[in-house]
Amino acid sequence: MGFSTECIHAGQSPDDRTGAVITPIFQTSTYKQDGIGRHRGYEYARTANPTREALERNIAALERGRHGIAYASGMAAIDTILRLFRPGDEVIVSNNTYGGTYRLFEMVLKDYGLVFRFVDSSNLDEVRKAVSPRTRLMFVESPTNPVLRITDIRGVSEIAHAAGAKLCVDNTFMSPYLQSPLLLGADIVVHSTTKYLNGHSDMVGGIVVLNDDEDARRLRFLQNAVGAVPGPMDCWLALRGTKTLAVRMKQHEENARVLAKFLAAQKSIEKVNYPGLPDHPHHELAKSQARGFGAIISFDLGSRERADKTLRAVTLFTLAESLGGVESLISHPATMTHGSVPEAERLKLGVTPGLVRISVGIEDVEDLQADLERAIR
Ligand SMILES: Cc1ncc(COP(=O)(O)O)c(C=O)c1O
Repeated sequence: MGFSTECIHAGQSPDDRTGAVITPIFQTSTYKQDGIGRHRGYEYARTANPTREALERNIAALERGRHGIAYASGMAAIDTILRLFRPGDEVIVSNNTYGGTYRLFEMVLKDYGLVFRFVDSSNLDEVRKAVSPRTRLMFVESPTNPVLRITDIRGVSEIAHAAGAKLCVDNTFMSPYLQSPLLLGADIVVHSTTKYLNGHSDMVGGIVVLNDDEDARRLRFLQNAVGAVPGPMDCWLALRGTKTLAVRMKQHEENARVLAKFLAAQKSIEKVNYPGLPDHPHHELAKSQARGFGAIISFDLGSRERADKTLRAVTLFTLAESLGGVESLISHPATMTHGSVPEAERLKLGVTPGLVRISVGIEDVEDLQADLERAIR
């Protein structure tokens, strides 16, 4: 079926008992059993919950994958993927990945013996050079946050598979509406459902989608064994969100294209990062592997002082962490998402003190442009 149809129908059907059209919120921690060892597929809600299952089936279908496994947050999903590996295993990671991912890898999982090699994954030679006999996973974000560099997903998947490693793509910034990593050769897709999939900034969650039955079985085991599960209400909110994913993404993108063009025309802005601009270094690659360019833009105002003034002057954009909701947000990556990345590392990545990131919402674009224009001036 077409993408919009899958958004609305995949993984769910009217409730058998009541006919409720919308999957109910099964707000229960446990289930009645009919006798010793006799139950209806549900024993305890950490292990299984029908609302969660509907969400997992829905997003798996949108990502064109066989298995979906939901977690309490994007970070819990990423953490669980890394539990598929053992001390001594090496992971090659995009070097300007989300700051929380960097923190999890370098400040938590490193202590458990995993080895992380950070490279500019948009440069396939750098990826090749980082491969060793112990490489087991490549973890790529494309586009990266917040400077929006694009990685050739097909190219990295070939390098990973030749090395006997798997490729995991964090598809949070694009959503399955714009990019399908599994169809480009990735083995695992991960999302912070907190962002576009939910789309309304009213829950926190994560999900992993993959085709491999054995890895899926292990991730499902870990979902229950570790217990970082999303609550039924949050699953329901995410499931409600995915119904409108296609129409929301269309509008997010359309607005972002207009604003990127407007920002690029401003003499007082040093640099605009948006893969949809023809002078973006990875514009052609972005076109070749995705169905659009997303709705995150970053731009450099030259100094922290000017960034601060702009962030305080906007009235429609809200200064806040996160992205992907219907409302437009503005943030300062150096002190917010990338606060835990060392300064020298940040500067190397282009996360300068004057860099501002916007998550373009679906308001009327004329209002958004007027707000930015006034604030920048
Ligand atoms: C690209 C990306 N991946 C993962 C995460 C983590 O997700 P969560 O905040 O749901 O734990 C984020 C959060 O901002 C993100 O932007």
